[in-house]
Amino acid sequence: MASSSSEPSQNDTPAWLPDAVFGFTDGEVQARALAANLGVPYETVEVHYFPDTECKVRIQGRARRPVVYRPLNHPNAKLIELVLSASLLRDDGAKDIALVAPYLPYMRQDIAFRPGEAVSQKIIGKMLAGYFDRFVAVDPHLHRTPRLNDVFLGKPALALSGAPAMATHLKARQVPSDALVIGPDEESAPLAKSVADGAELPWAVCTKKRKGDRDVRIALPKDVVFKRRSVIIVDDVISTGATIANLARAMREAGAKSVDVYATHALFDDRVHDELMRASIRKIISCDGVPHRTNDMSVVNLVVNGIRACR
Ligand code: R5P
Repeated sequence: MASSSSEPSQNDTPAWLPDAVFGFTDGEVQARALAANLGVPYETVEVHYFPDTECKVRIQGRARRPVVYRPLNHPNAKLIELVLSASLLRDDGAKDIALVAPYLPYMRQDIAFRPGEAVSQKIIGKMLAGYFDRFVAVDPHLHRTPRLNDVFLGKPALALSGAPAMATHLKARQVPSDALVIGPDEESAPLAKSVADGAELPWAVCTKKRKGDRDVRIALPKDVVFKRRSVIIVDDVISTGATIANLARAMREAGAKSVDVYATHALFDDRVHDELMRASIRKIISCDGVPHRTNDMSVVNLVVNGIRACR
């Protein structure tokens, strides 16, 4: 039975056991670690770009139940590479192909917000479901779509959560007893609650209005005291950084003693990193599903269990 909970499901179906992990240059460290943890060979997908930007892929290994591992930040070209890779593996005898995309893109456009807009989540999900048989992602943006299976035409799909890794990291740092976990918007409530519960801290969420890609307004919860507290902001994705920068500034204005940020997926560049530091953030810590200078939490063990439970 397909599962889409934040924890690997426990059911009677035997664990799904891959026989190889295929990886690309980006995320190679994590893909190799995944293969080692699963006890299967690691195989390389070679990608060549022609001068006109067309690509070709080459895979020398073969497998019946391959995992294709790919961090899907900057997704457009990578999606073509994935389609070519999965087709090639299938032609070479693969019967059951898993896509492990710790960061799953195109999930935010889950409805037409204005008439005439394409619903990217549905379209990209349908496309990938045509090439892959099962899916594992970490904190995919499933605001209005309750289950990840629904994105992939009902195929087995597991949405893992980065929250336990964040809670463990926080506990290891021994954050002060005045600490507070805060999410930027109502959508972040499950993540904020889960991190806070795991780290035994209180939590709250703000309200957010997005007026444009980089124009974000945040309103703080009225009944929470921020003065002289160590604030831990948590979010699934940092992209332009507008959400986190605005929230961090608001926290400092409200008297917070320090502001640290935990994110599952860090998609931003160095320019945004500098901007966030100027917003008085002390430290940003992210999961390594998207390789980034802020990585300090591994998704490998989480994904190992997720793959086996994705059935
Ligand atoms: C929003 O729905 C997400 O949870 C993140 O808050 C958002 O993607 C962050 O984007 P940005 O860094 O561009 O403000």
